[in-house]
Amino acid sequence: MWGSSTRSSRIAAIGVTTVHGFTSPAGSISSRMSRLRHVNTNAIMRAFTTNGNNSTSTVDVDSSTSADITKNAKRIEKRKQKDKRQASAAKRSKFIGLAKAVDRGSFPTYQPGGSSGDIFVAKSGLPVDISSTGGGRLFTVLGIESSCDDTGAAVVRSDGVILGESLASQAHIHEEWGGIVPGLAKTAHEENIDRVVNDALQQAQITLEEIDAIGVTVGPGLEICLRVGCEKAIQLATEYDKPFVGIHHLEAHILMARIENPELLQFPFLALLTSGGHCQLLKCLGIGRYEIIGGTLDDSLGECYDKTARLLGLPVGGGGGPALEALAKEGNATLIPLTIPLHRRHDCDFSYAGLKTNIRRAAEGLAIDRNVTSVLDLSRKDKADLAASFQNTAIIHLEQRLERAMKMMEKEDISSLAVVGGVAANQELRSRLNAVCEHKNWNMVVPPPRLCTDQGAMASWAAIERLKIGSSDDPSNQTVYARYPFSSYPNIS
Ligand code: KG4
Ligand code: ZN
Repeated sequence: MWGSSTRSSRIAAIGVTTVHGFTSPAGSISSRMSRLRHVNTNAIMRAFTTNGNNSTSTVDVDSSTSADITKNAKRIEKRKQKDKRQASAAKRSKFIGLAKAVDRGSFPTYQPGGSSGDIFVAKSGLPVDISSTGGGRLFTVLGIESSCDDTGAAVVRSDGVILGESLASQAHIHEEWGGIVPGLAKTAHEENIDRVVNDALQQAQITLEEIDAIGVTVGPGLEICLRVGCEKAIQLATEYDKPFVGIHHLEAHILMARIENPELLQFPFLALLTSGGHCQLLKCLGIGRYEIIGGTLDDSLGECYDKTARLLGLPVGGGGGPALEALAKEGNATLIPLTIPLHRRHDCDFSYAGLKTNIRRAAEGLAIDRNVTSVLDLSRKDKADLAASFQNTAIIHLEQRLERAMKMMEKEDISSLAVVGGVAANQELRSRLNAVCEHKNWNMVVPPPRLCTDQGAMASWAAIERLKIGSSDDPSNQTVYARYPFSSYPNIS
């Protein structure tokens, strides 16, 4: 079952990671030249010393030297090729995460309001009386989210109060398949979208005429699913002539840390985003301005939770994280020895693919020890120990990468951390990272657990943040993006 398509493995394909400086490995031109010089001298010396008598002829020396030089030239060429291969392998390993991620010209990038990142233009208007300076009356936004497997809608007021929300879960559909089936997810979105939007409006006791603006997730995500929400939002914005905002899903996760009180988490800050499709550390400079300082080289943490949950036979329909967390509470977190990923690597990147294999092998080994036919037949106690040990190792990896990023940020006087994304709902992770922040005297903000996972309020709130700075989009020109990398703004601090 490990190879089958899950929610996370599909979404992982749209993840984002960082650009790093690439240092050329051994094999630079100068080092190769000095090796060449060294090798040639040796060849000439050998030609003299291997000749037994003193009648060394120049011809002998010359032919022997030129043969050696040819041999050496071949060896050097071979080494050159090897260096080249190693360099490109190293580069590739960096680009594994990057491929999902950073603007390399092949994907449209998220640039709200302009490529400079600091000039925002309201293309489809702003709610009445709302100025870019943040004055005016409170306004309300209808938000729609359908990037993956749950259809969400919410009405949120510009002071962060959620007036109404509705979420149609698809857990029961995907449970049957052991992961997300995009076609089924799209059909379920189509079936639920109208009801979910109406429920949110009804709960908020507001009509579409009274709504001030509409926000909808437009990427990254499953394209066919995104389209359902986006088309609905475009239709409503056009019919009711409302300002429209196309939301970046990852920005929406990040900004949820500000919904309760933006004053408590002011830019710039560090964000740790861990969800089903992403695992990143980002320097957050402002709305639409994010610098990725670490990303996953392979799997996301949510994906790893989901697959480990499946390995242990736990429910995975709405993501296996919650079930695995619950089981881990019964287990011994230090009983199963697991390797901490990238322990010796001094950067802020993540890797969870090795841990996924590590836990599977440990579980299979335990099944053999216990003389049971499969991991699924292990006792609850054994499964709990596996779950707890997995979670502990996964979090240690997070802590290590986070602490390195915090050190980097401290040099720039940044000392606030937002922990966001679906996995941030995990209580063990929250309390462990909180302890790190307390120890380092950092301010940590994490949304309430139900606002960490995907729901409609994230689209509403992200739209509110965009509208407050005068940024909106043209609904007649809006499309959806499976991949939607952040633009980098290297010159803006
Ligand atoms: O942010 P999210 O709802 O969707 C994406 O944008 O991917 O994150 C879903 C991920 C799933 O992998 C799910 O298993 C994980 O978040 N998750 C958790 C918990 N709640 C959700 N992982 C660990 N512990 C949890 N309590
Ligand atoms: Zn999400």
